[in-house]
Amino acid sequence: MAPGKRKNSGTKKMNKTFKGKIALITGSSQGIGKAIALELGSLGATIALNGRNPAKLQKTNEELQKSGIATLLVPGDITKFDVCEQIVSKIILEFGQLDILVTNASITAAGNFAELPIEIFKTAMDSQFYGSVFPVKAALPDIRRSKGSIIMISSLAGLFGLPKHSAYSCGKMALTAFSQSLQTEERNSGMHIGIAYVGFTRNDSEKRVLNQAGEWCEVPQRPPALQQSPATVARGIAGMIMHRKQRKVFSAIGKTQNLIIRFTPWIFRIISKRF
Ligand SMILES: NC(=O)c1ccc[n+]([C@@H]2O[C@H](COP(=O)([O-])OP(=O)(O)OC[C@H]3O[C@@H](n4cnc5c(N)ncnc54)[C@H](OP(=O)(O)O)[C@@H]3O)[C@@H](O)[C@H]2O)c1
Repeated sequence: MAPGKRKNSGTKKMNKTFKGKIALITGSSQGIGKAIALELGSLGATIALNGRNPAKLQKTNEELQKSGIATLLVPGDITKFDVCEQIVSKIILEFGQLDILVTNASITAAGNFAELPIEIFKTAMDSQFYGSVFPVKAALPDIRRSKGSIIMISSLAGLFGLPKHSAYSCGKMALTAFSQSLQTEERNSGMHIGIAYVGFTRNDSEKRVLNQAGEWCEVPQRPPALQQSPATVARGIAGMIMHRKQRKVFSAIGKTQNLIIRFTPWIFRIISKRF
């Protein structure tokens, strides 16, 4: 079987688990967000597609529509709270409900903290942290009403701070605390809140990260054996929503790292120097 292919892909079209559900996926014009949009859409959800670049968003929209997925375009910068409120209002005006929110959009700054200008650190940290907090705050009353799901996309950097990724790691770790607080606060509301610690994933060719000089740079590809496909990650996210899982560490490598971090963090500190 070709890698990434579903054993029972024939039954997928029949499986409309999310039929009638409205899902907002932030940063869904490319990469993991786009794969989640395709996965939830193929399982019957109507997808509110978000990103800042309208041309990229339009291209992804055409791709989804060709696959028979119903969509609504909600462009905008999710690091701005008023924009998040407008996005949610547009969805409610159009459909009257919001059932699923996946906070996926974020940017990364790469470089040692000592050399990273503080404004670049803050931009990346804001994107990682408030890029989830703002959409959650804007969508919470509607997701609570629908007893729906919120999934925050974190990373292995949310389990252990990675070198050259201090702002990224801080933002992802802050999401752990945020999700835990919400899970306890909302335990009787019928809402589901989950956090996904995604492992190394094959990057979209369009993916760029900020370097120390504030330039957008291509990301070097990691060895294929270390990476999951975006489609595999997307299936894991759909599973979290279906089974209302609160926490999931992705990939065999991620699960092994999680164990090393928990029991022998000094070993992980040595390994992580190679990242
Ligand atoms: N790739 C990996 O190996 C990996 C591993 C673990 C976790 N993750 C996490 O998974 C998520 C997606 O990663 P990815 O690799 O798929 O990223 P990506 O290829 O860079 O895609 C990011 C998406 O978010 C959008 N975006 C970025 N900032 C935004 C903003 N302020 N407002 C609205 N949209 C915004 C981008 O579109 P525009 O630029 O047009 O706005 C794009 O659609 C991130 O949270 C990342 O930290 C990735």
